[in-house]
Amino acid sequence: MVLDGHDPLAIARAAQALADGELVALPTETVYGLGARADDDAAVAKIFAAKGRPADHPLIVHVLDAADAAHFAAQLPPVARRLMGTFWPGPLTVIVPRAAGVAAAAAGGQASIGLRCPAHPVARSLLAAARSLGVRGVAAPSANRFGRVSPTQAAHVADEFEADLLILDGGACELGIESSIVDCSRARPVLLRPGVLTLAALEAAAGEPLTSTENEAANDGPAPRAPGTLAAHYAPRATVRLFDTAALADMLAKQWPPGVAVYSRTALQACGPDGTWQRRMPDDARAAAQELFAVLRELDAAGAQQIWIESAPQAAEWDGVRDRLSRAAAAFNEPVSG
Ligand code: TXA
Ligand code: MG
Repeated sequence: MVLDGHDPLAIARAAQALADGELVALPTETVYGLGARADDDAAVAKIFAAKGRPADHPLIVHVLDAADAAHFAAQLPPVARRLMGTFWPGPLTVIVPRAAGVAAAAAGGQASIGLRCPAHPVARSLLAAARSLGVRGVAAPSANRFGRVSPTQAAHVADEFEADLLILDGGACELGIESSIVDCSRARPVLLRPGVLTLAALEAAAGEPLTSTENEAANDGPAPRAPGTLAAHYAPRATVRLFDTAALADMLAKQWPPGVAVYSRTALQACGPDGTWQRRMPDDARAAAQELFAVLRELDAAGAQQIWIESAPQAAEWDGVRDRLSRAAAAFNEPVSG
């Protein structure tokens, strides 16, 4: 059931549910999360079961502040402290060494743990109310079934899970793509997943360059350190194909097949025939990120078989959007989807 996240009674009820080891879906400024108390392995197991996500994939633990973060960490490396100091509360997850015996299931058995302090007022109210009931952190992956597009509205969450799931409605997420993840548990910080924070902003706060990612993450062995880094992730049902501006125009000039939705920044010359769809992507990277997953869901729901998308610009502020687009497109070039 969906409850108004701005209603104090709903917050109290959801906090009690978390304390009792039940699942609660909560809004954050990035995407909606599917939460359980992080210190309760049985509660965390319900997340993996509901998502259909392998239990060795680590989850992010959401905390109210740096003091609660310290509870889950063996230590907070200086680079993690600098990043937290700059971006918390906000769309940044740090991976740090995990405190012994704490939140093992949430960490997917890793020796490290992902920590994030969200800025969304509903998430903060919930974390504060839960803390007063003894809950120091809430493990919450994105509230979608494994491999699907992350939800950015309460209705998206309701579409994915059983009707009895308690969902706090906090409106449409302001940022729309998942947090930037920086692994601070190694000798050098590694950007595991880009978000809306630019690499330059992260490096300025970190005080050192960040290594980036994919090969690093892949080198860690068969269990990916971050499922969001699997190539085939964040996929709608429709097949996603990416085109540069000229290639898209060429394709459409030849034929705009029925069942094809086009999502482009450039205005199109032509209109498609019946049974096609057309959406304009905003020119602004933030605005594009904010609506991206909702648009993919809408086009899926409308019945599109394929979504042809104009590639995002190379500029740094588009890194997060480019990453999600290429993963959505990769899903259909690979045998296994995440
Ligand atoms: O914006 C977000 O980060 C959203 C909201 C709900 O906070 N959460 C989210 O969670 O995207 P999830 O589980 O879908 O993706 C989090 C990523 C996963 O790919 C997970 O494996 C990675 O963080 N992660 C968590 N703990 C980790 C660890 N100890 N080592 C490496 N990666 C970790
Ligand atoms: Mg996810």
